[in-house]
Amino acid sequence: MTKRPLIVANWKMNHGISDTFKFLTHINRIELTTETVDVVLCPPFTSLYTLSVALAEASSKVMWGAQNCHTEDSGAFTGEISAEFLTELGCSFVIAGHSERRQLLGEKNDFIAQKVLKVLEKNMTPILCVGETLEQRDQGSAVKVVEEQLHGCLKDIERSDIEKIVVAYEPVWAIGTGRTATPEQAQEMHHAIRNWLGNKYGRSFAGNVRLLYGGSVKPDNIKSLMTQDDVDGALVGGASLNAETFREILAQSV
Ligand code: PGA
Repeated sequence: MTKRPLIVANWKMNHGISDTFKFLTHINRIELTTETVDVVLCPPFTSLYTLSVALAEASSKVMWGAQNCHTEDSGAFTGEISAEFLTELGCSFVIAGHSERRQLLGEKNDFIAQKVLKVLEKNMTPILCVGETLEQRDQGSAVKVVEEQLHGCLKDIERSDIEKIVVAYEPVWAIGTGRTATPEQAQEMHHAIRNWLGNKYGRSFAGNVRLLYGGSVKPDNIKSLMTQDDVDGALVGGASLNAETFREILAQSV
C-alpha cells in the first residue's frame, strides 16, 4: 500500500436516521483518523441528507456516498434513485455492482457498466465491486471471473477516467461470513486486477487506481491486509456499524 488509504463504510440496510444520528454523535466524541486516511460513509438513502448536514455542521473531513443509483436521470422507475439526485444532494461516492445486488436483485455487468458511466458523468466516484463465489474459487476460476466482471463493467471507460474509479475486490464467500481472505489471497487478486487495468489502460494509470479489499474486515485483520502492496484500502460492512469498532479499523489502517 503506497497511496493514502481509503476506508469505506457500507452500512447496507442498517442505520436509519435515528441510528445514523447516534453513530455521528459517537464519532464526534471519539477521534477518527481522518488526517492520514480518506473515510467515506455509505448509509441507506434515507439517512444521506441527515448524515450530510451533520458532517457539514461538524466541519468533518469524513466524506459520504450512496450504495447504489439508477442509470437514468429521471423517469418511470418506481423505487429507484438517480445519480442526478445524488449529485444534487452533494454526494461524492456511489457503490456499483455490490455482490448482494448482483445475487439478490439480478444485476448484470451491462447494467453495472452503465451505472459506472453515469456516476462518472455526474462527477462522483464509482466504487465498482467485483468478486468470485466460493464455488468459482474452488474451481480455480476466481481470477477469470473477476477479470470478466472488470471487462463487463469497465468496457466503456476512457483511459482518462480510469483513475477516477475505485475498485473493491470482495470475494462473495468472505462477505458477512467472518471468513476473511488471507492477506496473500487478497494481494494475489489485487495484483491480478492491477495487471488487468495495466494491460488495458497502461501501467501508470493502473497504478493510480485505488483497490479496496472487502469481506469481513475487522480491527484485527485490517493491518495485515493493508501491508499488501496492492491493497489501498477497505470496504467495510458489519464492522463499520459500530462507531468504536470503525474507529479502531481506521486507526489500524495506517
Ligand atoms: P462485511 O461486508 O464487512 O460485513 O463482510 C462487506 C461488504 O459487503 O461490503
